[in-house]
Amino acid sequence: MSVNPYKHHFYLDDNITFLNFGSFGAIPKPVMEVYHAFQMEQECNPVQFITNHGQQYLKTSKKALADYIHCDPMDIVMVTNPSYAVNTIAKSLKLQAGDEILTTNLEYGACDKTWQFVCQNIGATYRRQTISLPLVDAESFVAELFAGVNAKTKLIFISHITSTTALILPVEKVIEKAKSLQIDVFVDGAHVPGHIPLDITKLGATYYTGACHKWMMAPKGSSFMYVEKSRQSQIFPLIVSWGYKAMFPSESVFLDWHTMNGTRDFTAFLCIPAALDFMKNYSWDQAGLLSREMVRNNAQNFASILNSSCLAPLTDEFVGQMLSVEIKTQQPELLYKTLIEKYRIEIPVMRHDDKVYIRYSINGFNEQKDLDTLFDALKDIISKGTLIEI
Ligand SMILES: Cc1ncc(COP(=O)(O)O)c(C=O)c1O
Repeated sequence: MSVNPYKHHFYLDDNITFLNFGSFGAIPKPVMEVYHAFQMEQECNPVQFITNHGQQYLKTSKKALADYIHCDPMDIVMVTNPSYAVNTIAKSLKLQAGDEILTTNLEYGACDKTWQFVCQNIGATYRRQTISLPLVDAESFVAELFAGVNAKTKLIFISHITSTTALILPVEKVIEKAKSLQIDVFVDGAHVPGHIPLDITKLGATYYTGACHKWMMAPKGSSFMYVEKSRQSQIFPLIVSWGYKAMFPSESVFLDWHTMNGTRDFTAFLCIPAALDFMKNYSWDQAGLLSREMVRNNAQNFASILNSSCLAPLTDEFVGQMLSVEIKTQQPELLYKTLIEKYRIEIPVMRHDDKVYIRYSINGFNEQKDLDTLFDALKDIISKGTLIEI
């Protein structure tokens, strides 16, 4: 019987050491129950739910989310996932041949692909500025990124928390500098809601997207896209449907365009208040603090065993509830498979350009023994001398 006070709130398999909350989160039982209840209500009268009651619930849910991330609910729309928001914005910008989108070499691969697709079709450039690792401080980061700015730079696209390297980037300082140069900034905050504090209004990004189904623990397929008011008329719907030139327009064309886009199950979006309640009722802030402590206390040991080093100073500025360490392996896919199949550890082993990173995520239900299990498994694999090079 586990002594962890949070574990029983999740459905997670007791036979697996779960160290990958970062990819898709996991829903706590009270949130799952609310999700099922919405789906049941929907099936009692799908027409009334989709056209009437569900829309009211959606408004309530969006208001709760907007309060949580500190923005006007009129400036956010619910989307299934961050890639949806990146596609919507990238495909709306009126880029011209020769224009440039500036980014880092630490971005999420699917977002890189979106920008490369859009830029290639137009003859624009997606400039991936190389950032030196380990990060030293915010100033050096900003200097390296802005060395890529030139007269053609139309937008900076940057992760708030990176995926493969699990680093919190100094987006506040990036936005401050970009504003002084009149360059718009699009922040990919997929990992941010429920992980680190977010005040969108204070941050001042032009565009922001975040996933509610990772660290906020809402059902999968619930994310948001924020667009600053002055840009809303230029961001077109990815799916053109009844919201375009709506017969019965609401008070906002932006909301119509991005909300009325055909039949879909939007019950995941409605569970945001339940997810926020869960975090409040179970002191999730405290669980986050303990998780961060565990992440850092173990960081050096993992870096040492892998003959590597931490990718940033181990402070709140750069490290949250995930930690990545570079791992030298020619077979990352086989290493992942070995960890899950032989050692029953769920942990991502990810390629990024010419490097491979292993990333552990820690949340309230994790315990030190989970990281000990990982440590022992890596030691065992290293001792065999085939999959990991030291
Ligand atoms: C940094 C970052 N951006 C964007 C995404 C895109 O998420 P999705 O595939 O759900 O759209 C992810 C997913 O993990 C991510 O880690």
